[in-house]
Amino acid sequence: MKRFRFGGMFFLISCILWLGRALAADCPYKQCTCSLQNIMCNELGLTAMPQITTVVNTYFTIAQFDINNITTVPGGSLPANLSQISFIRNPISFMDLDAFDGSANTLTTLTFFGANFYTLPDAFLHLNVLSWLEISESIVKDWNDNVMKHIGASLNTLSIENVEMNTWPSWMQYCTNLTDLGISGASIGDIPDNGLDSLVNTAQNLELSNNSFTKIPKAVSKMTAVKFLGFQANKISDVSWLPQNAKLESISLFGNRLQDSKQLSTAILPYVSTLNGIELHTNLLTSFPDLGAFTLINELDFRRNKLIDPNSGSVPTGLVDLKLGNKLRV
Ligand SMILES: *[C@@H]1O[C@H](CO)[C@@H](O)[C@H](O)[C@H]1NC(C)=O
Ligand SMILES: *[C@@H]1O[C@H](CO)[C@@H](O)[C@H](O)[C@H]1NC(C)=O
Ligand SMILES: *[C@@H]1O[C@H](CO)[C@@H](O)[C@H](O)[C@H]1NC(C)=O
Ligand SMILES: *[C@@H]1O[C@H](CO)[C@@H](O)[C@H](O)[C@H]1NC(C)=O
Repeated sequence: MKRFRFGGMFFLISCILWLGRALAADCPYKQCTCSLQNIMCNELGLTAMPQITTVVNTYFTIAQFDINNITTVPGGSLPANLSQISFIRNPISFMDLDAFDGSANTLTTLTFFGANFYTLPDAFLHLNVLSWLEISESIVKDWNDNVMKHIGASLNTLSIENVEMNTWPSWMQYCTNLTDLGISGASIGDIPDNGLDSLVNTAQNLELSNNSFTKIPKAVSKMTAVKFLGFQANKISDVSWLPQNAKLESISLFGNRLQDSKQLSTAILPYVSTLNGIELHTNLLTSFPDLGAFTLINELDFRRNKLIDPNSGSVPTGLVDLKLGNKLRV
């Protein structure tokens, strides 16, 4: 009991010390709000980086500049020692080479949405521990091989959405540590057979939705660690290259051109004891796949298919929610 009370007292003192430190740490930008470890410069109508009072920083770790009109990030405009920076909805078109230098060895997470750079900025060459990069709705076309070579090995998550990209990037070979990869809303139609080799044993989530794939690429068949595959909103009719040495938990295939339920049944057999979700609505299936043995699946949606044969295939025994929506009576 005594020890417990002592522990409580210690906790209280820690809190007071921590609060004291928090209050003592001045917000590095007068215009922004700082709270806990966060620097928040969102929605201030900024057209340039806010005026910084000092780059010296041992306290704040997260800086957000979301929903402004910032176009340029000059050197010395960011506090040092940050771990996360986000520039969501800013038309950033230029960054000085030393823009991130104070955080070269601390910055792990970087988010851009609506960036206006055509080439990935060389400032990224100075980031040594970047593990999360997200770039959406950008005009970027030149992914700057030198940059990808530099950050590729430390990236765990790479998320690219709604950019113009119509062939599989060769710089993917440098991404040897990815657990999560998403390239969505591009117009990629295929992956070279060796195009995923750098990540076949690390990637757990692969999302290539809203592209132009007509089949699951053969490169995918080599994946061993993948748990989630997202190929929704493509033009896929052939799934025979689904990975046979992986334990998929979830697969999203809605919005494709799947027609061959027998091929699908065979391709997903290796996941019979792990798969808990499969999304198949909005395809061209005329018959049901064999899902009877998939005991972890409890929801199925077959709406917007062309199902005509109610006696085909099978549904899991544990199913609690079945959506048909076809002109089928079962
Ligand atoms: C950015 O600038 C444009 C043009 O001046 C303006 O219409 C828009 O509201 C601004 N956006 C923000 C988030 O300040
Ligand atoms: C960054 O943090 C370290 C350790 O907390 C500190 O010693 C250093 O002065 C900080 N750098 C700057 C420029 O604030
Ligand atoms: C790979 O990622 C892990 C964390 O998932 C990290 O600990 C390791 O340092 C990374 N490797 C490199 C070379 O950055
Ligand atoms: C699909 O990608 C296009 C760009 O290629 C984009 O305009 C559209 O919003 C995306 N759709 C969805 C649902 O994300």
